[in-house]
Amino acid sequence: MKEAEPLASRTSFGIGGPAEFFLELARPEAIENAIQDCCERDIPYLLLGAGTNLLVADRGVEGLVVRVVNREHEVDGTRVRAGAGLKMMRLARIVADANLRGFEFAIGVPGTVGGAVYQDAGCWGRELREVLVEAEGFVPGKGRLTWTPLALKLGYRTSALRDGDLSGALVVSATVQLQRGDGEEARQLMARLTRERNETQPIKTKNCGSVFKNPTGDSAGRLVQAAGLKGAREGAAVVSSLHGNFIVNEGGATAVEVRRLIERVMAEVKRRFGIQLEPEVEMVGRWK
Ligand code: EPU
Repeated sequence: MKEAEPLASRTSFGIGGPAEFFLELARPEAIENAIQDCCERDIPYLLLGAGTNLLVADRGVEGLVVRVVNREHEVDGTRVRAGAGLKMMRLARIVADANLRGFEFAIGVPGTVGGAVYQDAGCWGRELREVLVEAEGFVPGKGRLTWTPLALKLGYRTSALRDGDLSGALVVSATVQLQRGDGEEARQLMARLTRERNETQPIKTKNCGSVFKNPTGDSAGRLVQAAGLKGAREGAAVVSSLHGNFIVNEGGATAVEVRRLIERVMAEVKRRFGIQLEPEVEMVGRWK
């Protein structure tokens, strides 16, 4: 257990203050004990994955921040079970090497398997829920459970873990159902998709992926562009000139700057088009 552990370097944004306490372990059981303890002692805790969809407050996070880094995987016929700490991009390559198809979209998902379950991550119009068979997790007070996709209430960038009755539960592993196919074709498709993503998203910068959810039938990036907000800036936080739904930390941006920019974009899009954008990025920590 570390104290006052910096979190900025553990997020893709590179922003945020320290965790009051920090624990990173590969054994889920040890993490489960820690969060069980937190619940019994009324200590707040935050479950961290790869930190790719997160804006951590400048004053950091109260209580315990835990990160489970179990990265095992198991291929059983056309089913693949993966530890929550494995990166989705890594799993996409493992799946292709096992001559399975249907998981190529994961090459565009920067986070972990656990994070992908937490918010039904996806890319190129495909989402995890389309292939997820079950996920294993831990609920404080109840122990280990296996959840069906139905119990997880997966939907576009949401789930019962993120927004519902499973809030605070730990994802331990996920099992996906794929189809037999040609691994080389899967690799070629992933290479093409990655090239496309390189051209349309500022992936080499410090960012949190899409800042806003796409409103039904429209695109947040298109709306931000139409509102003339590409290049809008608060300190070192800038709306990407490549993709309007990305905010880039040009170096040394604070969480407050990013938040101010988010609020400015929301207000301007609302004023111009009457559309209320909803942040996709999760804001955590001590904001007040
Ligand atoms: N567009 C603009 N201007 C921009 C950006 C986009 O006009 O600045 C237009 C594009 O031309 C296109 C439409 O908006 O017609 C949609 O844009 P894009 O294809 O780039 O996809 P997106 O809807 O912005 C979604 C996901 C991304 C995912 C891509 C890949 C959301 C919020 N975002 O983006 O996911 O990588 O599709 O297809 O659903 C993430 O969730 O963090 C993420 C990056």
